[in-house]
Amino acid sequence: MENFGFLEKIDKDPGNLIKALQAVQGLYGFVSDDAVRAVSDYFQIPAAEVEGVLTFYAQFKRVKPGRFKIAVCDGTACHIKGAPQIRQWISAELGIGPGETDKDGLFSLEVVACLGCCSLAPVMSINGRVYGKLDRKGVSRILKEYAAK
Ligand code: FES
Repeated sequence: MENFGFLEKIDKDPGNLIKALQAVQGLYGFVSDDAVRAVSDYFQIPAAEVEGVLTFYAQFKRVKPGRFKIAVCDGTACHIKGAPQIRQWISAELGIGPGETDKDGLFSLEVVACLGCCSLAPVMSINGRVYGKLDRKGVSRILKEYAAK
């Protein structure tokens, strides 16, 4: 159960809206509908306006992340080596697209810029652990390993 009592520590100036949303996301990993309502009430700003800010800034997530957060790199090196294909394989295996979490709350998927290990392209990370030189079999095996955890 989320608790937004900590908002009281933030000055009610609407200029602090982003700061408040960052605090929410820092605590819960995403900004839920309840959080939007709480922030909207706290700053006396219409919920639609809060939604607008969330949509505008890519840093905010509106969906609860899965237990295993998959980040597929689509930086230049990985893109050339087939990152879009990797992303499609993952989507096909898990039934989710970028920005989504599967129905069991196990996996979430996002596409990110360079993960900083281009020599291993194409690359993905799961909860920060990097997997490189991916091919279809490798992707499938890794996902199965995590699903069994
Ligand atoms: S482009 Fe993917 S790790 Fe650099």
